[in-house]
Amino acid sequence: MAQDSLKITDSRTNQTYTFGIENGTVRAMDLRQVKTGPEDFGVMTYDPAFMNTASCRSAITFIDGERGILEYRGYPIEVLAEHCTFLEVAYLLLFGELPNETELKTWVNEITHHTMLHETTNKFMEGFRYDAHPMAMFVSTVAALATVYPEARHIQDASNRLLQIKRLIGKVPSIAAMSYRHSLGFPYVYPDNDLSYAENFMNMLWKMVEPKYVANPVLARALDILFILHADHEQNCSTSTMRAVGSSHADPYLATAAAAAALSGPLHGGANEEVLNMLDEIGSKQNVPAYIKKVKEGHGKLMGFGHRVYKNYDPRAKIIKWTAEQVFGITGRNPKLDIALELERIALEDDYFVKRKLYPNVDFYSGIIYQAMGFMPEMFTVLFAIPRTVGWLAQWQEMLTDPEQKIARPRQVYTGHRTRTFLPMEKRLAVAKA
Ligand SMILES: CC(C)(COP(=O)(O)OP(=O)(O)OC[C@H]1O[C@@H](n2cnc3c(N)ncnc32)[C@H](O)[C@@H]1OP(=O)(O)O)[C@@H](O)C(=O)NCCC(=O)NCCS
Repeated sequence: MAQDSLKITDSRTNQTYTFGIENGTVRAMDLRQVKTGPEDFGVMTYDPAFMNTASCRSAITFIDGERGILEYRGYPIEVLAEHCTFLEVAYLLLFGELPNETELKTWVNEITHHTMLHETTNKFMEGFRYDAHPMAMFVSTVAALATVYPEARHIQDASNRLLQIKRLIGKVPSIAAMSYRHSLGFPYVYPDNDLSYAENFMNMLWKMVEPKYVANPVLARALDILFILHADHEQNCSTSTMRAVGSSHADPYLATAAAAAALSGPLHGGANEEVLNMLDEIGSKQNVPAYIKKVKEGHGKLMGFGHRVYKNYDPRAKIIKWTAEQVFGITGRNPKLDIALELERIALEDDYFVKRKLYPNVDFYSGIIYQAMGFMPEMFTVLFAIPRTVGWLAQWQEMLTDPEQKIARPRQVYTGHRTRTFLPMEKRLAVAKA
């Protein structure tokens, strides 16, 4: 069968070119053949914010934004959230298959035995100001792990790579919990290897003077489900950062810190904090119609609504809504939920939102759950970074083992001056600065 192709004619030369279409893409490098003459560099694509550029082939996460489908390694997110633990899903994302019983036992045991931080890391953490943002502490401390494990830079060695992956997955909850306790001025709590991944995280967050921390099983499961939902989301801003930094063969601690830095921005990991601010501003259910009217008139956005990829209900938001009910059964209902439900009800019936395909996204309900569990909003992005570390590492590993990948290096369209005459200081005129 003939290969699908794209035929284009260059109006400058009248020459026609045929490019193969594979997986719905044409190779950007093929366009370089399109030239006006031997001196011409050839045509490039211009794609600010990578709105229409596939930068890799990936077999990890599938998203169909129109239909609201999210799958990890081919398994629907709903099925994984219902039947698996977070570490089981981490194994799936990293190795491509669900573990059998023995594999899972070994995997959990290995991750559990990498939760402890070197004492120098604890000291490093102590050096932060009392009011440092938890996400800034998280990013810096993950980067600081590179000083503890210098061998991590041998990224071509598969077994060395796997060791660092296990260390990172094991240690990110410990770092996250330390950043939380540092903010509150509480002493750090050491990991407890008897506990599950989520329970141990809760132990490091909330243990006070009791000899053994006992986690509420409903809250531990809710946290584990939230971790599953946030584990990977294909080539988003932080994952692309992980791949770009990793493509220079930087060590995994530094690449993960860079990815976490990308996540810290309010346009990425920080949106759930904004949802809470919005619900505070609305104040009560009765004020919802007036708020929606304001948004429709162009004053602000409905935070937690809309998505670059999903033009349907974000499948994660459905699961989070269910999880919220479980959590509130223990913590008591967060009164913000009623405002959120009313907001969703009215928006989903409103032409403005229907026409633009604006549905609740993952951030719409997650902040309400986190707040009910007792987290301050500054911790929300750190809670996102723990599970996303798994996605970053799976994508990093896939990138390093992909023979087509090289150091990431986009092109530019240069719009500045060319070869100018240098003026000595005494001849330069003052230029007004904006
Ligand atoms: C996520 C987001 C950045 C996606 O943006 P995008 O794909 O670039 O979509 P656009 O900004 O082009 O939006 C398309 C239209 O919907 C409107 N729109 C998008 N999100 C909206 C929202 N949350 N509330 C009200 N209107 C919204 C835009 O104003 C635009 O309207 P127009 O066609 O009349 O100009 C955007 O929906 C948003 O800012 N949402 C709120 C923040 C949020 O929840 N972020 C978390 C994402 S997981």
